[in-house]
Amino acid sequence: MTPEERRAALAKIADEVSACRKCPLSMGRTRAVPGEGHPDTEVVFVGEGPGYNEDQQGRPFVGAAGTLLNELLGKIGWRRDEVFITNVVKCRPPGNRDPEPQEIAACAPYLERQLAILDPALVVTLGRHSLQTFRPGARIGQVHGTQQPAPPATGARDATTASLYHPAAALRQNSLRETMLADMARLPQALLDSRARRAGAGAQATPNQAEPRPPTAPEPDPAPEPAPAPEPEPEPMSVAAGGHDPDDQMELLLNQ
Ligand code: URA
Ligand code: SF4
Repeated sequence: MTPEERRAALAKIADEVSACRKCPLSMGRTRAVPGEGHPDTEVVFVGEGPGYNEDQQGRPFVGAAGTLLNELLGKIGWRRDEVFITNVVKCRPPGNRDPEPQEIAACAPYLERQLAILDPALVVTLGRHSLQTFRPGARIGQVHGTQQPAPPATGARDATTASLYHPAAALRQNSLRETMLADMARLPQALLDSRARRAGAGAQATPNQAEPRPPTAPEPDPAPEPAPAPEPEPEPMSVAAGGHDPDDQMELLLNQ
């Protein structure tokens, strides 16, 4: 898909979402919030659902949680207009209650299609509900800051998923800010690892997948050299590994 085709396909989904009546959340919404971002990005952030401000504006993460998300992105040198940001439900649950499982299920095909179009290398889940979509059964207090391959059934066919707390949780509990920052700081390396893994797999499978996408998410370091390189050092953030940092003090503090 060309960037223009991606843009058009995402706009079509946004139109469908804006007219959607597949679940009861359609009745209470002011505006649906399909999501927004760069159509050629490698990184997708998935939150829970629109709050008051998002419902008013039809845009994701524009309230207090969004301000914190922008700030955290800035700390790792990323900007929100070079990633894609969306939610598991596209319409605001009344009074900001948790989305119901049936509502998440009704809305899931939109997220799935967005991910299929974007084919991200990295999916960052924000909070419990998003986590459940990408790592069913996982507990946020135990897995935040860690990574796993995303199940292809989510629409993200070859992605690493990284699990973060929801920024709203850090607004309620100030100590989580530092945790979120530490978890966020792992994302650039997670992206580089996933990009390298995808390039390797593509080279063996279909040559056109090996074509690198324009890097829209900035890299902290120069890209790995194309020349045949010696064995890379084991990566501390390998996506194949299970848990990370079992001794991380924060893990003990934050199993809430
Ligand atoms: N919280 C979310 O989960 N999503 C938004 O878009 C805004 C706040
Ligand atoms: Fe449709 Fe999703 Fe909105 Fe429910 S939350 S009405 S499924 S767009």
